[in-house]
Amino acid sequence: MGFLTDKRCLIVGLASKRSIAWGIAQAMAREGASTAFTYQNDKLKERVEQMANRLGSDICLPLDVAEDREIDAMFASLKKRWDTVDVIVHSVAFAPRDQLAGTYLESVTREGFAVAHDISSYSFAALAKAGRDMLPAGGALLTLSYLGALRSLPSYNVMGPAKASLEANVRFMAAELGPVGIRVNGISAGPIKTLASAGVSGIRKMLQHVQSTAPLRRNVTIEDVGNAAAFMCSDLAAGITGEILYVDAGFSTVGMSID
Ligand SMILES: NC(=O)c1ccc[n+]([C@@H]2O[C@H](COP(=O)([O-])OP(=O)(O)OC[C@H]3O[C@@H](n4cnc5c(N)ncnc54)[C@H](O)[C@@H]3O)[C@@H](O)[C@H]2O)c1
Repeated sequence: MGFLTDKRCLIVGLASKRSIAWGIAQAMAREGASTAFTYQNDKLKERVEQMANRLGSDICLPLDVAEDREIDAMFASLKKRWDTVDVIVHSVAFAPRDQLAGTYLESVTREGFAVAHDISSYSFAALAKAGRDMLPAGGALLTLSYLGALRSLPSYNVMGPAKASLEANVRFMAAELGPVGIRVNGISAGPIKTLASAGVSGIRKMLQHVQSTAPLRRNVTIEDVGNAAAFMCSDLAAGITGEILYVDAGFSTVGMSID
């Protein structure tokens, strides 16, 4: 019996087989969870439905997290299938492409800053606001962050402040939902080649740098992140909330690495 048996997990942010959400979905299904998915737009619908089917799920709902009415409609549709949802995974980020090229001050604009924070951070709180009535005691919320929340990194630019905001969201939501038994955590993943990270210029060099300097001398995979996410959302992690767990082969722990 898996450690997520009888848990119902809603996964927001599946786009491709490279998605971190796919690693998470597979680990959760393997541990016995029932899964439901959202897709951002019609272009992704069929692909997400096929991937959901592979995990035995026939719940795939449209959701653009920029739209409050789509969030409300998604939960209204989900409620027709499930009366409660134990786990909500938020694996979503976006910044306009011009925000991820050049230096921070060269690229950042008022509009780009607002969009990055709206889609990559506020949307986590928006899902919790709209979905909290469906979350029972023992429920868990999880989001995905990156080291750019704490440190400057080339080309990550406005996504750094957006991830810092997301991590603060984790702590404020954990404080508010903890008393009713709902946990809120984040995973800060090392770089992985996905559709989202392809927009960050220099991702290939970043992957090489991590591989040569991280204590484990490798990059992490969506399976590494998926396994950690399954644990964090399970009752095995019942004492953990407001936490950012690093799944980065130890990269963030190294102050200096000299060959
Ligand atoms: N890939 C990495 O190196 C890395 C490292 C650390 C953290 N992360 C984080 O992991 C999460 C998942 O990213 P990924 O790397 O798996 O890439 P991905 O492109 O596979 O996933 C990003 C998802 O965000 C969704 N999305 C974007 N805008 C949306 C909107 N308006 N409404 C609904 N959905 C929207 C996309 O549809 C997609 O499913 C992101 O939060 C990302 O910042 C990624």
